[in-house]
Amino acid sequence: KKKIIIDTDPGIDDAMAIFVALNSPEVEVIGLTTIFGNVYTTLATRNTLHLLEIAGRTDIPVVEGSHITYTKGTKLRVADFVHGTDGLGNQNFPPPLGKAIEKSAVNYLVEQANQYPGEVTVVALGPLTNIALAIEQDPDFAKKIGQIVLLGGAFFVNGNVNPASEANIFGDPDAADIVFTSGADVLAIGLNVTHQVIMSDDDRDKLVQSNGKFAQYISKILDIYYSYHHESYNTKGVYLHDPATIIAAVDPSLFTYTEGVVRVQTSGITRGATVFYNTVKRFMEETEWSGKPTVKVAVTVDAPAVLKLVMDR
Ligand code: BDR
Ligand code: CA
Repeated sequence: KKKIIIDTDPGIDDAMAIFVALNSPEVEVIGLTTIFGNVYTTLATRNTLHLLEIAGRTDIPVVEGSHITYTKGTKLRVADFVHGTDGLGNQNFPPPLGKAIEKSAVNYLVEQANQYPGEVTVVALGPLTNIALAIEQDPDFAKKIGQIVLLGGAFFVNGNVNPASEANIFGDPDAADIVFTSGADVLAIGLNVTHQVIMSDDDRDKLVQSNGKFAQYISKILDIYYSYHHESYNTKGVYLHDPATIIAAVDPSLFTYTEGVVRVQTSGITRGATVFYNTVKRFMEETEWSGKPTVKVAVTVDAPAVLKLVMDR
């Protein structure tokens, strides 16, 4: 079984992703680390604990991550208009009974990479701050982590925060640039593929009618996520960003990939843009791109198969 650590900012699609992972026999969720993004970090931790209680999986450790961006001082942007002020569809859930373990997410990530060298996949569903800090803390982290599968970027398409950038990358572009150029085995799942994985209004009815514990819970938190999509994108359904990313860790064969250098624009009107360089074209002069390690970027997805797995699980 593949050991995975989910780094997350729940978040409605994060909640779906966590449940899909817990129901996937191919992977073992060994821990969850939290990060700001859809909500502030304290609330992300609370929501993660709550979701594990719903799932009956309080045996899995939750570790709180950074409260601030890698480059201190960047203003945090939360997405309450997508996920609700509580991050979970404004359902006023009672506070969780459990607590995060007394450790920083950075120390936890470094420890796990050292305990199981080459065996741990980090599935990153929020801004990449914790992972960049782990890379900074342990120069061998990038080599010792098995893989980093991340929801981030808008490759060859428009973003969802500005025309160039996707929310998780925009949330901490400096951290993202560190992760992309770290030499780790990185697999990026961007909006170019997740905008094809759409859970329709009919699929939602199926969740409402299902007796499954996870389906029942998710169907109750979806209202605001659906209305945001109907209004902003005019889609007949919602994008399954984070659940699709879990599926990429579970069954990478449902995607195709290209490989190249990715760097991130850290400021200006395209802040958070993920720029892909296929390295076939060699520039005449040395640039900020020369000799940088490559990463894998998803270019196509078997959307019906991914949707089916998410619905089933
Ligand atoms: C990403 O941003 C968050 O809103 C979602 O949870 C997902 O991780 C999509 O851009
Ligand atoms: Ca997320």
